Amino acid sequence: MGRVAGKVALVTGGASGIGRGCAETLAREGAAVVITDLQDDKGQALAAEINAAGGKARYLHQDTTSEEGWVSVIADIAAKEGRLDILVNNAGIAVPAASITEMSLADWKKQQAVNVEGVFLGIKHSLGLMRKAGNGGSIINMSSVAGLKGSPTLAGYCATKGAVRLFTKAIAMECANFKDGVRVNSVHPGIIETPIWEAIVPPGGANTPPDLDAMSSMAVPLGVKGVPADIANGVLWLASDESRYVTGMEMVIDGGMSVR
Ligand SMILES: NC(=O)c1ccc[n+]([C@@H]2O[C@H](COP(=O)([O-])OP(=O)(O)OC[C@H]3O[C@@H](n4cnc5c(N)ncnc54)[C@H](O)[C@@H]3O)[C@@H](O)[C@H]2O)c1
Repeated sequence: MGRVAGKVALVTGGASGIGRGCAETLAREGAAVVITDLQDDKGQALAAEINAAGGKARYLHQDTTSEEGWVSVIADIAAKEGRLDILVNNAGIAVPAASITEMSLADWKKQQAVNVEGVFLGIKHSLGLMRKAGNGGSIINMSSVAGLKGSPTLAGYCATKGAVRLFTKAIAMECANFKDGVRVNSVHPGIIETPIWEAIVPPGGANTPPDLDAMSSMAVPLGVKGVPADIANGVLWLASDESRYVTGMEMVIDGGMSVR
């Protein structure tokens, strides 16, 4: 028996990076996984790979900033799977700015829309279906070390990830009051090798993404960057009943970066 056998999971931004790792891990451990993303080719290919390996997955196109999109994804899951046990609000973007004085309002709003509004809409529209099954559920919101500590050039991103951190705690308390058995936790990755870094060009440097190995050897006490499976393993535990007594928690997976 897998650790999440019989459960239905929705992973947003599941076609790439950490979301992809979460989809693979949850499927390997027995969940039926609905992967959503904007990158249809990658998402469909991943679902096919998981099914070929004996897991259960399907892909849906979804822009997490669209409320109508959420309504239709949840209706689709209600019709096909009939229940929802695990929601991984993973989709996110990073929009760097050398200085906040140079950040456009449009960029600020775009980042807020994906990283914060997407999480709000996900929880708003998933809770009904989760509660319907009557046996709890697990919501996992992807925050960041940047939601715990300040980072120059990523101030707007930090604002979104800090919002996700506290929104998570508030919803954890709301669900606890509601006595619906739904647990809500945030995950805070450190430096994880994924395509998100391609958008982050260090200030004053060449027009290339940061060298994650060099960065990690300086900033991470364990000395190395992480990989999506490092985050997916934490998500798996939060998704499973092994964490039945855990809600409102910040799970930091960062090689010790935020401790030093
Ligand atoms: N990689 C890291 O070092 C790191 C560190 C801390 C937090 N995070 C967070 O982890 C999450 C996953 O990031 P990643 O590193 O795997 O990056 P990634 O770019 O590989 O994956 C993000 C996925 O989200 C999708 N996406 C973006 N906007 C979307 C939208 N509006 N609707 C639906 N899907 C959308 C993208 O298409 C992509 O497939 C993000 O929330 C990110 O902020 C990443």
